[in-house]
Amino acid sequence: MKGIKIIGTGKYAPENIVTNDDLAKKVETSHDWIVTRTGIEQRHIAADNQATSDLCVPAAQNALSDAGITADDLDLIIVATLSPDKPFPNTATILQRKIGAMKAACFSIEAACTGFVYAMEVASSMVRCGNYKYALVIGAEKLSSQVNWSDRNTCVLFGDGAGAAVIESVDEKDNTLLNSILASDGTHEELLHTAIGGSATPATADNLEDPGRYLQMQGREVFKLAVTNMANSVKKALEEVNLSVDDIDWLIPHQANVRIISAVGDKVGIASEKVFVNVQKYGNTSAATIPIALDELARSGELKRGQILVFVAFGGGFTWGATVLKY
Ligand code: UT7
Repeated sequence: MKGIKIIGTGKYAPENIVTNDDLAKKVETSHDWIVTRTGIEQRHIAADNQATSDLCVPAAQNALSDAGITADDLDLIIVATLSPDKPFPNTATILQRKIGAMKAACFSIEAACTGFVYAMEVASSMVRCGNYKYALVIGAEKLSSQVNWSDRNTCVLFGDGAGAAVIESVDEKDNTLLNSILASDGTHEELLHTAIGGSATPATADNLEDPGRYLQMQGREVFKLAVTNMANSVKKALEEVNLSVDDIDWLIPHQANVRIISAVGDKVGIASEKVFVNVQKYGNTSAATIPIALDELARSGELKRGQILVFVAFGGGFTWGATVLKY
């Protein structure tokens, strides 16, 4: 069995910033409501001609240069996204062509906002088995293409972006992945989903105006389940490797709502200074929130090698999970 180490990170957020005041011109909302209920102040929105893979390209290139390797060195690319370029082929193969990583096996994972945590576990397992030396793991979303821009319940919450991490295969004794737990509960499918556009109900000329073509969410119910499951995941993931909350140096939670993040922090019992928050700048970028946050924290210089770092996420499905790393 090999070990894994994150040797580089990167991110990209589209240039176009949409403020809460900009949104208040389109739907009945206000900067005060959005900040008070979510903590979000602005979000980055991709240009019409930017697909999710285009957001991945600079994030991948930043991560590769941070890692000191080239695209040609990559053996594996996994992209976690719920907003792929096309139903198929998968976004990772489109990214492969754009960055020229022609040796890499490529596929995508859809686990909604938990996508990066799932992708990290899958990539780590493959790398630890010894067949892959360098893996690129990306969380990327163009959620602006999925959102109903006339629904104030959802359109104020989401943003576009991509975050990337390069994983290297290392000796078992240098392994940094201490634990990873993944979970799902498919009984709440309709609390957070896009009803139309898949094989169950294909998009047709008849349902063109149906709100089901866009992402829909029962926010209050999702909120409660997110807090409970994220907090429990952190506790369980730590307990399984005999760590306590006091051992955590940094918690990077999925960035959906600052109130969810604080409630999770309170339930876990962690000091707020150890909880990384950037939802105010990006909104909820689903699978991209954790790798974007990881890159910001790593580049700030505050995240040191050897520190205990925990990711935790919750999203549509429902899916949730936590990762414990000795960074
Ligand atoms: O990424 C993983 C999945 N997503 C999440 O984790 C998000 C989970 N949910 C949330 O973050 C919160 O539930 C929301 C931010 C979506 C909503 O906050 P809330 O405190 O749960 O508000 P609410 O849905 O209970 O709505 C309160 C009121 C309602 O009006 P009434 O019924 O009280 O008259 C809404 O119609 O706020 C109204 N409202 C708005 N008002 C102004 C809803 N959206 C807006 C808006 N601007 N954008």
